[in-house]
Amino acid sequence: SLFTLGKASLLATVLGFSFGAVAEPVEIKFSHVVAENTPKGQMALKFKELVESRLPGEYKVSVFPNSQLFGDNNELAALLLNDVQLVAPSLSKFERYTKKLQVFDLPFLFEDMDAVDRFQQSEAGQQLLNSMSRKGLVGLGYLHNGMKQFSANNALSLPGDAAGKKFRIMPSDVIAAQFEAVGAIPVKKPFSEVFTLLQTRAIDGQENTWSNIYSKKFYEVQTHITESNHGVLDYMLVTSETFWKSLPKDKREIIKQSMDEAVALGNKLALEKANEDRQLILDSKRVELVTLTPEQRQAWVNAMRPVWSQFEDKIGKDLIEAAESANK
Ligand code: LMR
Repeated sequence: SLFTLGKASLLATVLGFSFGAVAEPVEIKFSHVVAENTPKGQMALKFKELVESRLPGEYKVSVFPNSQLFGDNNELAALLLNDVQLVAPSLSKFERYTKKLQVFDLPFLFEDMDAVDRFQQSEAGQQLLNSMSRKGLVGLGYLHNGMKQFSANNALSLPGDAAGKKFRIMPSDVIAAQFEAVGAIPVKKPFSEVFTLLQTRAIDGQENTWSNIYSKKFYEVQTHITESNHGVLDYMLVTSETFWKSLPKDKREIIKQSMDEAVALGNKLALEKANEDRQLILDSKRVELVTLTPEQRQAWVNAMRPVWSQFEDKIGKDLIEAAESANK
C-alpha cells in the first residue's frame, strides 16, 4: 500500500542519512619514495588538496613520502594487495611487470623533455599505460621529473672514467647494461639507501635528476656531477584494477581530473626544478660540475648506444622507433 511504501522510503531516508552521517571517508593512500620538495612530492600534495576539496568528507588522500610507508622493493606488491591505492614509481621500476617500459631507459634516446613528452602523449606512449593490465595494474598517466646526470667521486669526462666503479641503479636491466657498456659495476638498490651507500663509499656513484640529487643531498657525498642528460627519469601513476573499479564512475572521474591537474603542476615544477636545483647545487660549492665537450659526449653515446640493439627484442623495435621519432 501507499502507506507502507511511504514508511519504507522514510526508513530508507533516515537510514541513508544516518549512514551518510557516520560513514568514514574512503581513504586513498598515496605512497612515494622522494622528498616533498620535488615534482612528485608536490604533485601528490596537490592531488590531496584537489580531491579533498572536491569530495569533502567522502574521500581522503593520505600521502606518505620518503619511502615512509612502502619503498622501491614493495610498493607495487602493496598496491596489488590494496595496502596502498596510488603509487608513482619511476618508469625504470616496472621490470617485473612489463619489459616495454624499459624503452624509457635506453641511453641517449630522447633529446630533451619535450621529446619525452611527445612520446608519452603519442598513441604508442598512451598504449603503454595499459601494458600491465594483465597484472592488475592500471596506468593513469605520466609525470615528469627530468633528465638524469651522473655523479661520482671522480670526474666522469670520458666513458673510461667510469670503468671499475660501482654505481647504484634503479632495478632495470637496461640501466645495468648501460653501465656495463662502460666497464662499470651496476648495483640495484632502493632509493632510500642511496645516500648512505654514497656516504659510506660502499658505492662510487649514481645517476639521477637534479631535483633528486638536491633534495636527498647526494651532492654532499659526491665530488663530481657530470651534466650528461643521458637518459630520462619519469614516472607512471598507477593504481590497481581492483581499487579503480571499486570507485563509482562519477567519483572516479573527479579523482582522475584532480590527478591530471596535479600532474600539470608537477610537470611545471619538474621543468623549473631542473634549473633551480641544479643552481642550488652549484651555489653550494660542495661538488664540481663536469661539462662535456661535444666530442666527450659523443664518446659516451658511442659506448652506450649498443644497449639499444641488446634490448630490441624485449622492448620491441617498433616501440624504440616510435620513441626515437619523438625527437624533432
Ligand atoms: C630513484 O630511485 O632514483 C628514483 O626513481 C626516485 C624517484 O622516485 O624519483
